[in-house]
Amino acid sequence: MSASEAPSASELDTLVARAAAAFAQAGTPADLENAKAQYLGKTGHLTTLMKGLAALSVEEKKARGAAINQAKQAVEAALNARRQALADAELARQLQAEALDVTLPGRQRGAGGLHPVSLAWERIEQIFGSMGFDVADGPEIESDWFNFTALGNPPNHPARSMQDTFYVDMQDADGQPYCLRTHTSPMQIRYATAHAKRHAAELTAGRMREIRVIAPGRTYRVDNDATHSPMFHQVEGLWLGENVSFKDLKAVYLDFCKTFFETDDLALRFRPSYFPFTEPSAEIDIQFQSGPLAGKWLEVSGSGQVHPQVVRNMGLDPERFIGFAFGSGIDRLAMLRYGVSDLRQFFDGDVRFLQQFA
Ligand code: PHE
Repeated sequence: MSASEAPSASELDTLVARAAAAFAQAGTPADLENAKAQYLGKTGHLTTLMKGLAALSVEEKKARGAAINQAKQAVEAALNARRQALADAELARQLQAEALDVTLPGRQRGAGGLHPVSLAWERIEQIFGSMGFDVADGPEIESDWFNFTALGNPPNHPARSMQDTFYVDMQDADGQPYCLRTHTSPMQIRYATAHAKRHAAELTAGRMREIRVIAPGRTYRVDNDATHSPMFHQVEGLWLGENVSFKDLKAVYLDFCKTFFETDDLALRFRPSYFPFTEPSAEIDIQFQSGPLAGKWLEVSGSGQVHPQVVRNMGLDPERFIGFAFGSGIDRLAMLRYGVSDLRQFFDGDVRFLQQFA
């Protein structure tokens, strides 16, 4: 078919069919544009036919022109249909490739948990809090006066060797070095001294203002084995009033242990001991009647009636302020509660160990 010849109707149909077949063959938009150029481009079949109309008479132009136009529209329709089909296929491919499985569980942040020592610590505060004890906090770098001397343990006293500690290169008013506190007992002095000042007017007027406080916190000693760490935790207890006796200590401590360990099957034993700031003094041992630790006496606390000189050092009258103090190992209590046999596991920071308590 040359440009000058008018195409027959069947030739046009064949052309449309060939175009549609070529478009259908095009697998990509680029292939399709190439195929399009062959029919609709500047030198494409249909364009050439259009140009050929110029040579025809007006009558023929009308008839043939309309037929060619129809064919051109049919080719354009086939082209557009194929374009749309390719675009749809591409979209489907993309959706498939970027598919989101919304049924997969989301990525979660690992939930943290409290350290077993913190768990024990919070429990202790909660239990003593329910018995009317205040909770106090104080410095870990302590002066010689609060850590030793005010507690009946002056320089060169033999009892100092019971608590070897770390010293800080800094001196207090008495020329003594500051130390990392070896126990929470200095909080007895700090809290009671503040109490005496705060209630001075009432106390001078002869009114009683009891002291009932616990002071949990970090303590330090030169010690390191399966049951001792250079840093450990203690909780101090102090109850001073007009008629507070060892009997109250026993009741309070037994109550505490039963709640802390969640068992009534528990015995308490007071074993005579020595501390420069209590008289008499006792170690408190507990014994479980059942469970893996049943039958063994386990030491959990030092205790005693607060020494009159210590009460005087607090700025209080030892004739009026009588009572007990205790100092218990929080880590020790946590070990017993959670069945941990090596104290060092608490401080190694091994997540596999810690996870068990979260
Ligand atoms: N502070 C003592 C210790 O750490 C324990 C204690 C506290 C004893 C209070 C008696 C009274 O060993």
